[in-house]
Amino acid sequence: MEFITNTPEETGEIGRRLGDLLMKRGEPSFVAMYGDLGAGKTVFVRGMASVLSPGSRVKSPTYTLVNEYRRGPIPFFHFDLYRISGADELDGFGFEEYLARGICVAEWSENLGEDVPDGAVTVRIEKTGEDGRRITVENLGEEETL
Ligand SMILES: Nc1ncnc2c1ncn2[C@@H]1O[C@H](COP(=O)(O)OP(=O)(O)O)[C@@H](O)[C@H]1O
Ligand SMILES: [Mg+2]
Repeated sequence: MEFITNTPEETGEIGRRLGDLLMKRGEPSFVAMYGDLGAGKTVFVRGMASVLSPGSRVKSPTYTLVNEYRRGPIPFFHFDLYRISGADELDGFGFEEYLARGICVAEWSENLGEDVPDGAVTVRIEKTGEDGRRITVENLGEEETL
C-alpha cells in the first residue's frame, strides 16, 4: 500500500489509521519503520499515538531506546534503534517481553537487519521533495486496509 503526503499532518493521519487498525487487532504487533533522518518517522508515530495513547507527548527515545505510553487499552512502545548496530545489542534489554506485551513501533529498523520480528508490518518513508513523502506500508493482514 502506498501513500503520497505533502504535509506532516497528512503523514500523521496515515499513522493514526495504522494505530486504529492495530488497536482493533487487540493483540501485540510490531511495526518496523525505515527512512532517513527527517523523513517523518516520529511524525508518523505521533499519529499512531493519537489513538494508542491519546494525549501523550511523543519524543524520539534516541538515548533511552524505548518510551512507553500507557494511556490506551494496550501498552504502546516506541523504539528508536538509531544507536544500536545489531539485534544482539537488544539481548538483556527485554526486547521479547516488549513484543509480547503491546504494540511496538521501531524507528531505524534498518539496524535490526534480518532480525525484524516475524509478521512485522513495515512502514517506509521516503522524501520526494521538501514536503513530499512516499509512505509504503507492507505486510498488513489479508483483510486489513488503511
Ligand atoms: N509530508 C511530510 N510528512 C512528514 N514530515 C514532514 C512532511 N513535510 C515536512 N515534514 C517535516 O519533516 C520533519 C520530519 O521529522 P521527524 O518526524 O522527526 O523525522 P524522523 O523521525 O524520520 O527523523 C518534520 O520537521 C516535519 O515537519
Ligand atoms: Mg525520529
